[in-house]
Amino acid sequence: MALALDGVRILDFTHVQSGPTCTQLLAWLGADVIKVEKPGSGDITRQQLRDVPGADSLYFTMLNHNKRSITLDTKSEQGKQILERLVRHCDVLVENFAPGVLDRMGFTWGRIQEINPRMIVASVKGFGPGPYEECKVYENVAQCAGGAASTTGFDDGPPLVTGAQIGDSGTGLHLALGIVAALYQRVATGRGQKVLAAMQDGVLNLCRVKLRDQQRLARTAVLTEYPQYPHGRFGSAVPRAANASGGGQPGTIVKCKGWERDPNAYLYFIAQAPVWKEICHVIGREQWLTDPNFATPEARLPRLKEVFEAVEAWTVTKTKFEAMAILNEHDIPCGPILSMEGLAHDPALRATGTIVEVDHPKRGPYLSVGNPIKLSASATKVRRSPLLGEHTDEILAELGYAAADLDSLRAAKVI
Ligand code: COA
Repeated sequence: MALALDGVRILDFTHVQSGPTCTQLLAWLGADVIKVEKPGSGDITRQQLRDVPGADSLYFTMLNHNKRSITLDTKSEQGKQILERLVRHCDVLVENFAPGVLDRMGFTWGRIQEINPRMIVASVKGFGPGPYEECKVYENVAQCAGGAASTTGFDDGPPLVTGAQIGDSGTGLHLALGIVAALYQRVATGRGQKVLAAMQDGVLNLCRVKLRDQQRLARTAVLTEYPQYPHGRFGSAVPRAANASGGGQPGTIVKCKGWERDPNAYLYFIAQAPVWKEICHVIGREQWLTDPNFATPEARLPRLKEVFEAVEAWTVTKTKFEAMAILNEHDIPCGPILSMEGLAHDPALRATGTIVEVDHPKRGPYLSVGNPIKLSASATKVRRSPLLGEHTDEILAELGYAAADLDSLRAAKVI
C-alpha cells in the first residue's frame, strides 16, 4: 500500500524525545527518515535507562521506529560535505539542538536556502524568541514554564508535573503538523520555510483551558466548578484543580472496591447534567431529583463534594469495571483508571496497532506504542529502530559515494 508521505525525505537531526517523536510520526506516515548520529555514540538515549546490557534502550527504540541511521561527524570538513549533499537530497531538516548549534556547524538558514531553496527547516526549541530563547530545556522545564505544573496537583500541595510528556512528545506532534503544512504550502510556492515549535508554546496550547479559567477568575473572582468552591479561597491566579473536570460538566476521581490494596482501583466519574436522573437512580438518591438543592446543575455546584461522596459510597461497593458497565448502560460518562500493566495487555489496543510488539536483534521482542493516528489509505507498519549507523553505507551509496570512499571516511572517523 502506498503511504501518505511516500517520497518525502527527512534529514533527521533530532535527539532525545521531542524531535524523535516528530520524525517517528513522519516515518510512520511513509517518509524516508534518515537519522544523522555522532559516530561511536549516537543519540544519547541509546544508552540511557538501559534494561538490557549492550542493547539500545527502550527509550531509544520506542522513539525511533521506521528510521534509517547514518553516522556522521558533522563537525569535520568531510562530514560537512556529506551533510551538504544530504541537505540537497532531502525535503525537510528536523532538529532539536540547543539554540545556535546548527549555525555553529555552518548550516545557517541562509546557507541551507542557498544549497536547497525547497528545504523546510523544522526546529523544536525550549522557548520562542524572548528572554529565555537561549535556554536548554527538557520535558519538565517546559511543563513548568508552560503553565501545566502550576495548575496540576492539589490545593494544599506543591505544583506537579504530569506523566504525559506534553512538553516533548506534545511539541513533537505540533512540529509534525507544521512540517506537513509547510510541505503542502511548498506545492504552491516551490520554496521551503522555517517551522518552529517552542516547548513552552506547545504546553501552553495544551493548557488553553487554564488560560480560559484565568480570565474567568479575573472577571468573577471565583471558579464554581473548582474544588475550592464554595468554602476555599481563590487568589489571583488559577489554582490547582485536583481531579476536577476541565470542562462544563463536573467530574472527579472516586474510589472503587479494592482501593485499599490496588492503587488503580479508581474511576473518573462525570456528573453530566443530561443524565442526572440516571445518576440519582443508580446511586440510590432519587430524592435529589426533587430537592431544590440538587435538582439543577447550578444548585449542585456548591454541593459537588456531597454529590461525589454519595457517588463514591456507591462505587466502593463495585470494582471499577463493574461500576463502568452499570454506568455505561445508563450513558453516564466515566473512565476506569487503567495502569500501564493493564494497557500493555489490552487486546483491543493490540488489535488496532496502538500497542505493538516489535522484534529487535539485540534485545528481542518488546512492546511499543504504535501510531496513534490511523489513516484508512495509509496503514502504518511499525519497523524496529535502526542500530547505530546501520544504514550508513546504503545512504552514502544513494548520495553517490563509492565503496572506496567509505573506507577512507571510516578510517578518518568521519562516519
Ligand atoms: N557530529 C558532531 N557533532 C554533533 C553531531 C554530529 N553528528 N550531532 C550533534 N553534535 C554536537 C552539536 O554540534 C553540539 O555541539 P556544540 O555545542 O559544540 O555546537 C553538541 O553535539 C550537542 O548539542 P546540544 O543540543 O547542545 O546537546 P545537549 O546534550 O547539550 O543538550 C538539550 C540537550 C535537549 C537540552 C538541547 O539539545 C536542547 O535544549 N534542545 C532544544 C529543546 C529540546 O528539544 N528539548 C527536549 C529534548 S527531549
